[in-house]
Amino acid sequence: MAKSTSAGARASKSASAAPRSGRALPKGKAWGGRFAEQTDRLVEQFTTSLAYDRRLYPYDIQGSIAHCKTLERAGVLTTRESAQLVRGLERVKLELDHGRFPFLPQDEDIHMAIERRLTELIGPLGGKLHTGRSRNDQVALDLRLFLRDVVSRVMGQVQEFRRVLVGQARAHLDVVMPGYTHVQRAQPVLMAHHFLAYVEMLERDWGRLRDCRTRLNVMPLGSGALAGSNYPVDRRYTASLLDFPSVTQNSLDAVSDRDAVVEVLGALSLIMMHLSRLSEELILWASQEFRYVDLPDTFCTGSSMMPQKKNPDVPELVRGKTGRVYGHLMGMLTLLKGLPLSYNRDLQEDKEALFDAVDTTEQSLVLCTELMRRLVVNTTVLAEAAEGGGMLATELADYLVTQGVPFREAHSITGQIVRFSLEQHRPLQQLTLKELQGFSPRFGQDVLLCLTVRGAINRKDQIGGTARRRVEARIKELEKALKG
Ligand code: ARG
Repeated sequence: MAKSTSAGARASKSASAAPRSGRALPKGKAWGGRFAEQTDRLVEQFTTSLAYDRRLYPYDIQGSIAHCKTLERAGVLTTRESAQLVRGLERVKLELDHGRFPFLPQDEDIHMAIERRLTELIGPLGGKLHTGRSRNDQVALDLRLFLRDVVSRVMGQVQEFRRVLVGQARAHLDVVMPGYTHVQRAQPVLMAHHFLAYVEMLERDWGRLRDCRTRLNVMPLGSGALAGSNYPVDRRYTASLLDFPSVTQNSLDAVSDRDAVVEVLGALSLIMMHLSRLSEELILWASQEFRYVDLPDTFCTGSSMMPQKKNPDVPELVRGKTGRVYGHLMGMLTLLKGLPLSYNRDLQEDKEALFDAVDTTEQSLVLCTELMRRLVVNTTVLAEAAEGGGMLATELADYLVTQGVPFREAHSITGQIVRFSLEQHRPLQQLTLKELQGFSPRFGQDVLLCLTVRGAINRKDQIGGTARRRVEARIKELEKALKG
């Protein structure tokens, strides 16, 4: 073995002496026994995850306490030892809760930092905590506990947002507006109907989160590093302590699986996509060109140069941040695609992506909820807009259909009427019965009733249509479903 550095020479000398004292060489490293040289500083900096995984500490300690009790039940720890370890872990938790935890530069991740501190506080007994466990199953557990909390919290935020949207729908039940396709005025709708469209999207989001939670709610501890544990641990007992209904069935899978992270990132991406579409509409609607809504001053910012500006920064940032969450989803899928079983250090890269996506989505949800709560709707501008743009043309065509004209022919006749109305610079509603009859003798007096915005809206009278009574019925259902 050719060692050229002096540190190496020293290390090989000590290695050839009688059995070493057992002191780990890379100072402060729990795994130091096998090593003859210090870890390079650059490597320490490159491999550490402490800066971000420290937020897993409550879950890590909760998991460690359950692990102690499981070891006690397995006869690996005495009752006294287990109680002492649990007390020590609770002290460590208090230090972390109060920002009094003394982190050290050599702490590699939160798991190692907690164990190191535990041993400082309670002595060598701390060294028994990790019996029958690996950081691989430990981090898998921490992540699932974290995800379970996050998913439940985001589900609550989604429901609150839905409540606010339903409230706005109720408050604006009589407000009409243009409905659009291709950003062209298409048919008039109730603004409440438009708001409720987002409530439906968010219901699917809520369901997706609930589905993710069911699948991720499985307990991985006891899988060891990859193969299982040498100790007779009752994994179902650990699961019951941590409120998991079941345990993972394959140790290799358990330590290398990050499906739940991908699923949650997928669910968050869809939430952000929905928020982003709403944001895009609010940005347009708040513009001088539309003037459909006013965003609250408290949710806008000004320009450093142009004194008149009131900019919709919040919805713009929500729209912008959506890309970030999508990026994390793609990053995570890419991280996983080439990984052989089982644990690989690549997996440590899951956390920053997940944490950032979670924080971004939670913030965006809360901000969008508040924005919508305070939104001011310009009813008259909307009503005027709903009258224009030839949006009643479909009503005319459908009228002809009721008179026995095949729809295609009715469509063509109505197209000619629309062109006429454009040339005349008079909206369809202002054409006389005589003029209409010039295009088709089938037009009767009652056609004029069809040519009103309210009439057009209220004829869309099926489940899912924009008729007032349908929209109101849906609001009632939702109010009942969302009651606390
Ligand atoms: N910090 C690592 C992670 O987040 C856990 C450490 C596992 N390390 C190891 N050498 N097996 O994935």
